[in-house]
Amino acid sequence: MNKLYGCLAPKMLKAYVKGGHKAAGSWGLFKQFSKQGYRSDTHGGRFVHNYVNKMGAKTYSKFDEVKAMPVGSVTAKPSFTVSIKGKASIGPLFIMEKKSKGWNEATADWQYAMIMPDGSTFGVTKGAGSAKVGFCHECHAGGEDNDFMLFLPEEYRK
Ligand code: HEC
Repeated sequence: MNKLYGCLAPKMLKAYVKGGHKAAGSWGLFKQFSKQGYRSDTHGGRFVHNYVNKMGAKTYSKFDEVKAMPVGSVTAKPSFTVSIKGKASIGPLFIMEKKSKGWNEATADWQYAMIMPDGSTFGVTKGAGSAKVGFCHECHAGGEDNDFMLFLPEEYRK
């Protein structure tokens, strides 16, 4: 699985960046928290990896002890699928960015974004297609004690 991802990751970086979302071009430089791709049923059953930028990495590494992520934290989850025949395809990039206090009370100042494999934006909170990513926060609300972070299964943590 890691070998496959090693081959896919550079292609993913190139694919997502086309649309111009800032984090879509920089997640490759973030700290990687997943030691291998894991299947995320809550993100379309795709395989995902988990990355957090410099601003948020130290706090995120506390996992269940996290009380508040610093403003400017960005977490990103690139995804891919593997067909029954073994063909890998790039899936969307899921992004959460912590904006300044008061930016959007409804999402606790998190901006959610879903970037399609062709670089286009499916939706971004308070931007194009905002309503289409409303479901993100509805589910992430389950992590309200940890500033809406839901982390990754322990066995896949680096
Ligand atoms: C049905 C529930 C659900 C929905 C809907 C959902 N998520 Fe998540 N999200 C999770 C869970 C559970 C995790 C942690 C485990 C994992 O990675 O699967 C997570 C993790 C994440 C992470 C890593 C940061 C963290 O919470 O630790 C990002 C980024 C993320 N989701 C973005 C999104 C975006 C963007 C959307 C909407 C397009 C979305 N999610 C929709 C449940 C959900």
